[in-house]
Amino acid sequence: TASLNQAARKRNMRFGSAYAWSPPGADAGSFANPDYAALLERDCGILVPENEMKWQAVRPSATTFDFDRFDAMMDYATRQGLAVRGHNLLWHQPKWMPAWERNHDFGPDPKAEGKRLLIEHIRTVMGRYKDRIHSWDVVNEAVSNQDGTLYTTALSDAIGSAEATLDLAFRTAREESPDAQLVYNDYMSWEPDNAEHRAGVLKLLKGFRDRGVPVDVLGVQSHIGIFEDRPVDQLAADYTPEWRDFLDRVTGMGYDLVITELDVRGDALPADVTARDRAMADYAHAYLDVMFAYPQLRDVLVWGMCDKYSWLQNRDPRADGRPKRPCPYDASFRVKPLRGAIADAFARP
Ligand code: G3I
Repeated sequence: TASLNQAARKRNMRFGSAYAWSPPGADAGSFANPDYAALLERDCGILVPENEMKWQAVRPSATTFDFDRFDAMMDYATRQGLAVRGHNLLWHQPKWMPAWERNHDFGPDPKAEGKRLLIEHIRTVMGRYKDRIHSWDVVNEAVSNQDGTLYTTALSDAIGSAEATLDLAFRTAREESPDAQLVYNDYMSWEPDNAEHRAGVLKLLKGFRDRGVPVDVLGVQSHIGIFEDRPVDQLAADYTPEWRDFLDRVTGMGYDLVITELDVRGDALPADVTARDRAMADYAHAYLDVMFAYPQLRDVLVWGMCDKYSWLQNRDPRADGRPKRPCPYDASFRVKPLRGAIADAFARP
């Protein structure tokens, strides 16, 4: 059967996945795990590092950078002829900044020092990989899902405001790599409890346009899930109008779309694996139908190929303690209905 990326290429898109670093032979969602690498090589045209490019990973202190792990990941992608996305240059939430940032001495001119730190970070990371990476999550998750306001950090307090900080990140990224695709990436989704988050993201995107900030794409993470005990077609029918309204506004401002981190939660669904997988695949199918109606949709990436290594296994365990099944392949690397739902979306007329 055709790979998902081959199916994507037919409509001038790409399919890809998150991947990780691990020591050779470790049981991880890593390029160094042959079972996981086989899935990447079977289906993907583009990869994204799950954690290894974040500030926490590449910037152990204000004055040092460490690219060892990500370099190994990049070498793997290059050997396999795969594209890579950059994730991310600024995750604008206090809890995801490195600890040293909170205690950093911004000195007598905090604004100048804050700008210097951010500009240095973006130039150093982007500059190192700009020949290989052409799509960047410049800013990740800066909008509160509670009330739609922008998070502040020690860095943005020094610079003066969250807006000024995000603007500077994008302007610096454009200067460093003028032809790269610059993405604002967030997890506002189509379920109803995301309304405030969506409103906050729209406001941010509008502000970028008003201020002439160079942002090309909204990264729609797409961590979707079934949280209501109703048939999935009913859920999809209920969620679609407001989600379309959101996407209409985003694309109406001239933004393209990338699905950056697709996976599916079904934490409350019954244990039966066949029924559970079917419901989650149908739900994803309905979601992708809406997304694929937008010609602005460029690429589709999942947040992991294989259930075994999904970040969701470590979050909110199921009441019955069973493993979750959010990815296109199961914990034994066997194909699941979700992969079929993604293939169908690429084959959509
Ligand atoms: O590597 C250490 C390990 O040495 C230590 O023993 C263990 C104990 O907690 O932690 C390990 O690090 C964890 C790391 O994942 C690797 O597993 C961190 O605690 C944990 O916070 C980190 O979680 C990642 C999370 O982002 C925060 O960076 C998830 O793997 C990753 O899937 C998740 O990805 C995010 C995207 O970047 C942005 N969008 C949402 C998405 C899902 O939350």
